[in-house]
Amino acid sequence: MELNCVNLKDIINSGLPEDFKDSDKNEEKNRTVLNRPLEVASNLQPILDYAIKEMFNIHMQASQTIWDMKMFNDEFKKQGSGFIVCYTNNEYKKSDKTDKTDKTDNKTLIHKDNVKLSLKSQIIGFFIFYTVLDEMHILDITVAKNEQSKGIGTFMLDYILRKYINLGVKYFYLEVRASNDRAINLYKKFGFKIFMLRKGYYDDNKEDALCMVKEVV
Ligand SMILES: CC(C)(COP(=O)(O)OP(=O)(O)OC[C@H]1O[C@@H](n2cnc3c(N)ncnc32)[C@H](O)[C@@H]1OP(=O)(O)O)[C@@H](O)C(=O)NCCC(=O)NCCS
Repeated sequence: MELNCVNLKDIINSGLPEDFKDSDKNEEKNRTVLNRPLEVASNLQPILDYAIKEMFNIHMQASQTIWDMKMFNDEFKKQGSGFIVCYTNNEYKKSDKTDKTDKTDNKTLIHKDNVKLSLKSQIIGFFIFYTVLDEMHILDITVAKNEQSKGIGTFMLDYILRKYINLGVKYFYLEVRASNDRAINLYKKFGFKIFMLRKGYYDDNKEDALCMVKEVV
């Protein structure tokens, strides 16, 4: 399965990552970028709606801590948040060899890495975070239930770490349920370390949270 990742916020605001990289060198410029309103061109709205709806479906099936759609949308609108979708276009490529779609329409997008997210893409995982200065706070990483334990979580985390380390992130923080062995194993594989335990942190079952950090050296 050929996999791609794209940050939906980059699709809307393609200048952000490079500006983020320069943030500590040029605070004034950074402030301007971060204050830019979240304006979505009308031709992008269908693909964003599609991607967020698919993310939400995966979240409802597979996440242990449930957000409602409003929380998803509110997080999406926040400055500094990132919504990365992991998707495959395999079927699309096979069945649509004569595609002559206008690249500016609302069915096909060319990301600047030349990766296509379209209404026919199959979204199989996602990653939500926000960044503050040189820190990334990971809010959620989820793989569709029937695709778990096939290396997709590894693929996504590898993509995210490489991309955002390159953009200047030095600390990656997250919280994970103490019983979530698969997620803990994934994070440890990439060098995350436990630095604190939050006793009874999760409201639903009073489970402890492990706070983990990866520091880029
Ligand atoms: C946690 C999650 C994102 C991991 O993604 P994944 O695609 O299933 O994980 P991978 O197949 O890439 O495996 C990553 C590592 O997890 C471990 N792992 C995989 N399957 C496992 C299992 N069934 N039990 C325990 N550990 C397991 C392994 O260490 C594996 O690395 P390895 O294969 O190199 O040994 C995914 O399972 C998921 O969406 N879970 C539900 C949502 C969730 O708990 N998210 C985390 C919130 S903090």
